[in-house]
Amino acid sequence: MNKPALLAGLRRVVGEDFVRTDEDSLAHFGRDTCDLFEPAPSAVVFPDSTQQVRDLVLLANDQALALVPSGGRTGLSGGATATRGEIVVSMERMNAVIGSNPGDRTIECQAGVITAQVHAQAESMGLFYPVDFAASGSSHIGGNVATNAGGVRVIRYGMTRNWVAGLQVVTGAGEILELGKGLVKDNTGYDLRHLMTGSEGTLGIITGATMRLASAPGDAAVMVLGAEQMELLLPVLERFGSAVTVNAFEFFSEQALQQVIEKHRLQRPFETPAPVYALIEFEQANDGDVDAAMNAFEQCVADSLLVDGVISQSSSQAHALWRLREDISATLAHRQPYKNDLSVRVSAVPQFLAGVEAFIEQNYSGFEVLCYGHIGDGNVHLNILRPHGMGLEAFKKTCASISEGLFEMVQRFGGSVSAEHGVGLLKKDSLHYSRSAHELELMRSIKRAFDPAGVLNPGKIFD
Ligand code: MLT
Ligand code: ZN
Repeated sequence: MNKPALLAGLRRVVGEDFVRTDEDSLAHFGRDTCDLFEPAPSAVVFPDSTQQVRDLVLLANDQALALVPSGGRTGLSGGATATRGEIVVSMERMNAVIGSNPGDRTIECQAGVITAQVHAQAESMGLFYPVDFAASGSSHIGGNVATNAGGVRVIRYGMTRNWVAGLQVVTGAGEILELGKGLVKDNTGYDLRHLMTGSEGTLGIITGATMRLASAPGDAAVMVLGAEQMELLLPVLERFGSAVTVNAFEFFSEQALQQVIEKHRLQRPFETPAPVYALIEFEQANDGDVDAAMNAFEQCVADSLLVDGVISQSSSQAHALWRLREDISATLAHRQPYKNDLSVRVSAVPQFLAGVEAFIEQNYSGFEVLCYGHIGDGNVHLNILRPHGMGLEAFKKTCASISEGLFEMVQRFGGSVSAEHGVGLLKKDSLHYSRSAHELELMRSIKRAFDPAGVLNPGKIFD
């Protein structure tokens, strides 16, 4: 199809004003937060209904077009990046909260509703939407489902998957599916809702989501704790886990902390620098909870697991401590870090981390490597910074080849090469470290069943 005919076809579906081809729009909507790939879409379209999304998918099938579904573009693996002249389908206009149902404890949203809006809506119902992360002010709920977003409270509440009560989806064949329907119990065969969750727009375009809500937790207190080595943090978690209800257990290295403190002129959590820090958030459900946490802390210091620590005395202090962890990703973004997002079973974390530390020492001596992440979930983010003077392509190549050794270690531990950031473009060549050849073949068959002509996000997850 020639370009004018293509644009005319798209305009017929979404309306004259909702097809953009100007350079700024192509650059802006053509990629997510992973900036290691150059965006090169042909056009960006802004549908406002499931019917329009369906018509776009039918047009794509008819004219052999490729569509890249796009939410808040906060993904970190290039899953929403269009590098091959695809049509970006932005869900920005489908941003209405359709309804809330206190009896079912659910909220029904169009896919483009911002995650923070779901938090606010839940709060107005006296309930709680527990999936949270630094990008919740701009990420879309549809994108969260499509990538099975994790974040900082997985240790207590699990990933997005746990909270999906229903989905409206347009498959690659242009069928509209209503999955889950908000039911608590439904054992009628394969649960396609879970297949869609985390499928990164390769099986269907999510146009609506019904999200389940939790009871609102009590007030929370936050501690930042310093330790000599990463692997000591797991015994620390065990001690705190027996004393209080842990909402979050995160970690970051001194180097990561330094970047945030310098950029935002923040206070160190305490004077003594430590090689690594844990941030723990716990619920203050009972009067004795702070004492129980302080006892756990003192025991950890007595047993040389921790060197120092601080506890928030107010919600503003808690917020300030959270910034030390949550601002890391945005602080590093301008350095275009090469991101590894690895996970192993929680019980294997100390051993795995010892291996990671040795690996960094041996292989990354010329690089700045910053570690942080969700250690309580067995999930480590390893960010490698580009040395000044090294070109982007050379940097990507070097990191990819060094990462192979890391992935072999992940494989030996039975871990994952992408714990929560998804596969997208960035991790597809490494997928075989976590998935068997047979699994990959089954995944390809599933893709063919939902998207026989391959119009949805081709080249993502696998080729
Ligand atoms: C985080 O844990 O901060 C996010 O996954 C983003 C990142 O890894 O940079
Ligand atoms: Zn993370």
